[in-house]
Parts: sequence; structure tokens; C-alpha cells
Amino acid sequence: MRKSIASTPSILLIGASRGLGYAMAGEFVKRRWNVVGTVRGKTRTRLHELADRHPDQVAIESADITDPDQLAALRDRLVNHRFDVLFVNAGTANPHQDDTIATVSTQEFVHVMVTNALGPMRAIEALESLVAEDGLIGIMSSGQGSVAGNEKGGHELYRGSKAALNMFMRSYAARHAGERRSLLLMAPGWIRTDLGGPEAPYSVEETIPDIVSVVIGKRDRPGLEYLDRMGKTVPW
Ligand SMILES: NC(=O)c1ccc[n+]([C@@H]2O[C@H](COP(=O)([O-])OP(=O)(O)OC[C@H]3O[C@@H](n4cnc5c(N)ncnc54)[C@H](OP(=O)(O)O)[C@@H]3O)[C@@H](O)[C@H]2O)c1
Repeated sequence: MRKSIASTPSILLIGASRGLGYAMAGEFVKRRWNVVGTVRGKTRTRLHELADRHPDQVAIESADITDPDQLAALRDRLVNHRFDVLFVNAGTANPHQDDTIATVSTQEFVHVMVTNALGPMRAIEALESLVAEDGLIGIMSSGQGSVAGNEKGGHELYRGSKAALNMFMRSYAARHAGERRSLLLMAPGWIRTDLGGPEAPYSVEETIPDIVSVVIGKRDRPGLEYLDRMGKTVPW
């Protein structure tokens, strides 16, 4: 990737191999940003195809957000970079979404909680030093993480993991009160991906431009907001 010049903004995007993360990488490239996107492992992904098409703008790194050693090593490899945006997109859902919290296995509970709540927080703690002082740190949450919005129930473990994430991010924001950085929890809507499934009402193509516009627009407003892809505040 070409050396960052003052006029070329840059994003470190965690979890960009496929789905929303990959599509965000493509949209940032379209808007002439430099993108460092992460994948897991050594397998070739769609992000590699994007990097082949845009070698000047896209670089690929690797990290599993559930592994603190990998996050520390990523920070060390990128120590000479300053990013305008750090965005943690990586997330997961348990395969049996209809399980209640009473029936879900302990193993699934731990996997989803560690991936969706602890992992993103560890990622931003490990990588925050790479972000410009007036930059943005964002995490992909979900409308399902809204406690106030949970009137229908369902998806109990996934909801709980994103609500926990939101709470941890509020604690992070309280610890960093008064700083110039912008903090964002994004609720993207229900979108057709491997995680969202084929029944979701929205396509990646029709939602990603709005998601990216909200991320970019939030950079001018320090402090934490929980926003949907139209930029509207989601009730906590
Ligand atoms: N799609 C929706 O309707 C929807 C709605 C609300 C919120 N979200 C959130 O949006 C984010 C992306 O979802 P998606 O729909 O694009 O899902 P997806 O298609 O399943 O993609 C998930 C992405 O997260 C990565 N990932 C998973 N676990 C990881 C880990 N431990 N370390 C690093 N990367 C990891 C995956 O990498 P691999 O390729 O290596 O597995 C992949 O890049 C998630 O946080 C999800 O909760 C999605």
C-alpha cells in the first residue's frame, strides 16, 4: 500500500474477509481511502481479490479478535501507522438462533460472548494507540443489542452479546470522557450475509454506502453514539 499522505484518509478494518466487512472495505476504496483489512488465517478471501484490484489502496493483515496475542502482534506490526478510523466489524451468531438462554450450551454461550462482546473491546484496547487523536473508533453492534428495543424477544444469546458489547463501550467512553475521539456503535439493519441469512430484507449493496457515510460523518462529533445506518440514534 502506498505511504499515507495527508490527503488520503485511512481505516483499519477488523474482520473484512466477507459479508459487511468486505463490502465496507470496497466502499472505502471507492471513496479513495486507504484500507488495512484483517482476515483470519492464511486462506485466500474476497479481500485478497480487492487488494489485487487495488494494490495501492488495500493491505491485508491477520488477527483473530479472540486471541490477545494476535491483537498485540497486529499492533506491533502497524506501530508506524496512524489511522483516521479503527472499525471492528468482526462478529458471530450461534447456529441455533431459536435456543433460549435456558437451552443454549455453555460452549456456544462462551463462544458468542467472547467473540461479540469481549473480542471487540480487547481489539480497541490493543489498537487504540494506532488511531489519530481526533480519529474515530467504531464497532459493529446491532439493533438487537438495544435493551429498550427488545419487545419481541428471540435471538436471546446474540441479543445479549451485543447488549453486553454496548455496555462495555459505554464504560470505555466514560473512561475516555473529554477526549477528541469519536466513538460509534453501529446498528446496520438486517442484511443478507452468511450471518444475516437469505430472509433478511436488505442487500449489502443497498446498505453499505449508508453505513460508510454514517461512519465518516460521525468523525466530526467526539463522544459515543449508537446509530443506525441512517444516522438515527438507537434507543439504548
Ligand atoms: N448481517 C446482518 O443482518 C447484521 C445485522 C446486525 C449486525 N451485524 C453485525 O455485523 C458484523 C458482520 O456481520 P456479517 O453479517 O457480515 O457476518 P458474516 O458474513 O458472518 O461475516 C463475519 C465476519 O467476521 C469475521 N470474524 C468472525 N469471528 C472472528 C474472530 N474471532 N476474529 C476475527 N474475525 C472474525 C469473519 O471472518 P472469517 O471469514 O474468518 O470467519 C467475517 O469476516 C457482525 O458483527 C454482526 O454481528 C450483522
